[in-house]
Amino acid sequence: MTLFDIVLFFTVVFIAVSLIYSTLQLGISPMPSSSKAYNAMLKLVDETGAGAIIDLGSGWGNFVIPMAKCKPQRQVIGYEMSLLPWLTSIILKKLLGLKNLTLYRKNFYKVKLPPASVIVCYLYPQAMNKIQEKLLIEQPEIEFIISNNFALPSWQPNKVIKLDDFYKSPIYLYKIVATNQVNVLST
Ligand SMILES: C[S@@+](CC[C@H](N)C(=O)[O-])C[C@H]1O[C@@H](n2cnc3c(N)ncnc32)[C@H](O)[C@@H]1O
Repeated sequence: MTLFDIVLFFTVVFIAVSLIYSTLQLGISPMPSSSKAYNAMLKLVDETGAGAIIDLGSGWGNFVIPMAKCKPQRQVIGYEMSLLPWLTSIILKKLLGLKNLTLYRKNFYKVKLPPASVIVCYLYPQAMNKIQEKLLIEQPEIEFIISNNFALPSWQPNKVIKLDDFYKSPIYLYKIVATNQVNVLST
């Protein structure tokens, strides 16, 4: 075995362990949205005004990087806990000089979300429950939620796009209307 083989072996082991650990810890792998889902989300983002766009779980940057590139007038913010996907997206951001993109290595359940036009996410059912709870309790200044594939548990979407894929995967758009005490969704 050469030194190169040894370095390669430990690099591969480190990458595998890091990805498996974060997947087990967070309940989801950093699997990116498909290009069809991205295009549908982009179409819905266009209906959300000119404010900031937040990706809860920005992964390798597959959503936030092209979004920041094609919408230089809008702030794009990503939260990601998994080390390697976050590092990759930071490197891409620097290489592409995306000044309107901010990437935090933070657990989005534990941060106070900044005011924004829209939250975008591609997570899993239990995460949608927790996000709905967070929005109800913390009442951040956020107008819309776009979710790839998973619905919020008890809110009615304003729009659903069914993708032209095998599962006819849904992309949900919710408009949040703030009342005095709780956020409700307009129908
Ligand atoms: C399925 S990927 C979606 C990636 C990207 N948003 C996209 O659509 O291409 C979900 C990401 O959410 C991240 N994630 C899950 N829970 C998180 C949390 N509480 N805080 C930060 N990131 C989280 C995971 O590490 C994973 O990278």
